[in-house]
Amino acid sequence: MKHKIILDCDPGHDDAIAILLAARHPQIDLLAITTVAGNQAVEKTTHNALKVCSLANIRTVPIAMGMARPLLRPARHAANIHGLSGMDGPHIPEPDLALSPIHAVDLLIQLLLASAGDITLVPTGPLTNIATAIKQEPAIVPKIKAISLMGGAIGVGNVTSSAEFNIWVDPEAAAIVFNCGRPITMVPLEVTHQALATPAIVARLRAAQQPVATFAADLLVFFAETYQHVFGFAAPPVHDPCAVAAVIDPTIIQAKHMPVAIETVSELTAGRTVCDLYGTSSQPPQVRVGYALAVERFWEMVISTLLNS
Ligand code: BDR
Ligand code: CA
Repeated sequence: MKHKIILDCDPGHDDAIAILLAARHPQIDLLAITTVAGNQAVEKTTHNALKVCSLANIRTVPIAMGMARPLLRPARHAANIHGLSGMDGPHIPEPDLALSPIHAVDLLIQLLLASAGDITLVPTGPLTNIATAIKQEPAIVPKIKAISLMGGAIGVGNVTSSAEFNIWVDPEAAAIVFNCGRPITMVPLEVTHQALATPAIVARLRAAQQPVATFAADLLVFFAETYQHVFGFAAPPVHDPCAVAAVIDPTIIQAKHMPVAIETVSELTAGRTVCDLYGTSSQPPQVRVGYALAVERFWEMVISTLLNS
């Protein structure tokens, strides 16, 4: 059975790999790509989604542009990691695909309302589009089969010591999504920091001498440079495809249900995903939180899918 998904993203080097995995994996039916401000301004992340899909010949999936700024806060981007374009590094031809005329939030609402309740949302950027759709049309909530999101951390964050980037950008949106009552899998930094694009992984992609795999390798080389520069990592964590992989094969992550609250008030810890690992709160364990990744299976899935494109 194919999993119907909508990928809500902010490309972004790792979002680009998530798009390729979602569009090409035989067990995924990618209904739409919706874009949001995050790694860069929404016009840039949208342009990047169009570029990726043009290059990879993904022509039947609608691409809709979404929210330009978080619900309550100013827009904040990650040029230090993804560059001024949001996807610096490889030379990519201008896209020859048209943007959907529908706003991403309206497309999310339309697709969910028309569905049989069988669509999984896969957000790999700030949660502004999903939260706005829920606020605008609460009837979509029971139609969401599940949410598999890249974001948050059980422990240390990556943009502050408390918060991971996607949740930190729009904590108010995250609070709406995390409390929507639908099944949520959170794929946090503890998981994605195991998905390291080592030189051996990049070499496997290059060895294929295929345009899509070469593009992915070029993305990862730029990503490696900024991760080395900013965090001192020897290899970059390829966060976003992990959330897609967790839909294709839920056993690819080890996870535990627990209550997760989003900090929206404190300046010091804004955007923290407060994970109640030991059940000390009286809250229901509403989130399935990943804590480990089957690393070899993950790369096998990603590389074989990219090489078959
Ligand atoms: C997340 O932030 C972005 O920079 C990446 O695309 C990923 O979604 C990691 O914190
Ligand atoms: Ca992202």
